Amino acid sequence: MRAVVVEASRELAVADVPEPAPGPGQVLLDVDVVGVGYVDVMGLRGGDELSPAAGSVPGLEVVGRVRTVGSGVSEELVGKRVLAQPDFGGYAEQVAVDADRLLPAPPDADPAEVVALGLNALVAEGALHRTGVAPGERVLVRGAGGGIGVLATQIAHARGGEVTVVTSSAERGERLRALGAAKVVDRTRSGRPEDTYDVIVDTVAGPQVGEYLELLRPNGRYVLCGGAGGVPGPEAFEPLLRDFHKSLTLLTFSLNSVAPEDRRQSWDRVVALLADGRLSAVLDQSFPLADAAAALRRVERGKSFGKVVLLAAQGIPGRVVP
Ligand SMILES: NC(=O)c1ccc[n+]([C@@H]2O[C@H](COP(=O)([O-])OP(=O)(O)OC[C@H]3O[C@@H](n4cnc5c(N)ncnc54)[C@H](OP(=O)(O)O)[C@@H]3O)[C@@H](O)[C@H]2O)c1
Repeated sequence: MRAVVVEASRELAVADVPEPAPGPGQVLLDVDVVGVGYVDVMGLRGGDELSPAAGSVPGLEVVGRVRTVGSGVSEELVGKRVLAQPDFGGYAEQVAVDADRLLPAPPDADPAEVVALGLNALVAEGALHRTGVAPGERVLVRGAGGGIGVLATQIAHARGGEVTVVTSSAERGERLRALGAAKVVDRTRSGRPEDTYDVIVDTVAGPQVGEYLELLRPNGRYVLCGGAGGVPGPEAFEPLLRDFHKSLTLLTFSLNSVAPEDRRQSWDRVVALLADGRLSAVLDQSFPLADAAAALRRVERGKSFGKVVLLAAQGIPGRVVP
């Protein structure tokens, strides 16, 4: 099969690679669509456990159909369309995935929309669920125009929160208003927000975390679930100690530590919001699989609004699309 491989130079190249075989407890998927996120950009830079090794295939989320199952997996899965989160290998025509990393794709949904929800919806929903956002609470979303941010904005609004977004242009602000934001802060103009908040969802982190922690109201919850702006130094967390009388909570949230059953419950809540029209997938741009490098550049340059996807079933010459 054809796949996109990380070269020793950390560039991406299309290559013929052996078709993966599903091991015990795994399924083999025919990939329709691949999700691209900042996590892939960081992974391509190399150097940590989120980095695919040279010679391997990156890609952490796909939507596809189950072709075959390995030992110990029910044959009933064959032919089902699923959202899957492999440990790499997604930038390919086929990928083997642990069966407990599959979630059912809603039958009527477009595969690209399902992947556009994908990991990002699970991060946004899971992070907000843990903060226990209640109706009427003020919620601030940082990195609101990103893949996670556009979903966090909608889900916080659906939970009854009064949502303020921090984003990087008036145009993005208008699009976020249409998704449920009540207020917009343009970080390229006015800097940081002036109100205070019950909940802050932060996908950016970086050196400004301390300034944002100071915007929490008493009993406020701050959930750090990304680092598009870099890793904050320890001094950023000083307001937590200094303002201890506010009884603040700092949470971190990574999908990596969420148990399969909890992921499934979170996904059920996402699908329910989708079904009643309170959540919609936001697709930025789709690229053929062979143009994965261009897709990653778009995400890295911060040009995307919503999700960038790769079309695996159409993008590689020679593939017959049913
Ligand atoms: N917790 C988890 O389990 C999990 C899972 C997947 C990814 N992540 C992480 O979550 C983060 C966001 O992922 P994503 O896919 O949403 O990324 P994304 O689509 O690239 O969005 C990030 C957004 O953050 C804002 N931003 C970027 N650089 C910034 C800076 N220097 N200062 C301020 N704002 C900046 C931009 O939004 P505006 O233009 O609107 O300001 C950008 O669109 C990444 O660090 C990723 O690795 C976490």
